[in-house]
Amino acid sequence: MSSHDEHPEKPDLKPPSRKEMSRRQFLTYTLGGATAFMGAGALLPMIRFAVDPILHKKGAGDFIKVAEESKITDEPQEFTFELKQQDGWYASTATLTAWIRKNEQGEIYALSPICKHLGCTVGWNNNKATPDEFHCPCHGARYTKEGLNLAVAPKPLDQYKTKIENGWVYLGDIVPNTEAAKEA
Ligand code: FES
Repeated sequence: MSSHDEHPEKPDLKPPSRKEMSRRQFLTYTLGGATAFMGAGALLPMIRFAVDPILHKKGAGDFIKVAEESKITDEPQEFTFELKQQDGWYASTATLTAWIRKNEQGEIYALSPICKHLGCTVGWNNNKATPDEFHCPCHGARYTKEGLNLAVAPKPLDQYKTKIENGWVYLGDIVPNTEAAKEA
């Protein structure tokens, strides 16, 4: 009997060769990678959709059409306008007020009505004892028509950023007053 016939039906119990393992691994990695790629492709738009409103705070920096340029005189006039804001998922509309006039050089500026003492709302020419001034009814702060603080309040009224385009006055963010210094 030859040595070949001693174990005729013995199954091949050799461990898988290096080549077979790597082929299996290759398939596993390839399928895993493809699944991850397809999953990421489906998930990324959803993640972007979820995160986008948080990254973009809308409302700040925009200019809003408020008044016709031809209606502005040297007497301060009150205009109200709406500012749509988007903060994350929270959408809101704020109603704002501005006192707009033209100075002696014909330049248009807009003052915020928020008193710089404790935040009440000022009015123009609303106190008989001190005509042609902004007056705050809460504690009696007074301001000139340029917003310069005359009594009680520690600072001038703030201004809105202003631009004129195609005959319209547009207002933007609230900034510190520059108009009072011109007239001082
Ligand atoms: S809040 Fe205007 S005077 Fe006090």
